[in-house]
Amino acid sequence: MAVKVLMVCLGNICRSPIAEGILKSMTNPNDVIVDSAGTSSYHLGNSPDPRSIAIAHRHGIDISNQRCRQFTTKDFSKFDFIYVMDNSNYKNVVAKIKNDKDRFKTKLILDEVDLDLKEVPDPYYDEEDGFETVFQLLYKACQSISLKLNTK
Ligand code: 4NP
Repeated sequence: MAVKVLMVCLGNICRSPIAEGILKSMTNPNDVIVDSAGTSSYHLGNSPDPRSIAIAHRHGIDISNQRCRQFTTKDFSKFDFIYVMDNSNYKNVVAKIKNDKDRFKTKLILDEVDLDLKEVPDPYYDEEDGFETVFQLLYKACQSISLKLNTK
């Protein structure tokens, strides 16, 4: 059965759509199902931010078909791994946890890589170079996640 991975940020328009696109590009869809969600409801139904679409496209990944949705407690039963971009959103996700099983599957995504940085910076108010930094961080994290999932 496929492993299911959920990427979570605040708006589900900048960081988690990039993470979803990168991990999808590194894994076989028969083996790994990847989705993303936001803890907020600010941008429900919207496409990813044009700057996220542009950065992903520059690296050969098309995320333009993704649409924003909000994280719900049901996601704990739907997904095997939930990777959150920063401490603030981690707190919001963990606040919805009902049991230890859910706690074990919920991680900061940068815990998967050996970096001093523990949070993927929110690029929403940045220029495009902030998005390239986000892409590079998420690329490293997804490499490590895909190796762990042992597919492709
Ligand atoms: P994301 O970035 O959490 O990486 O999608 C943000 C997107 C929107 C907002 C903040 C962060 N906002 O305040 O609308």
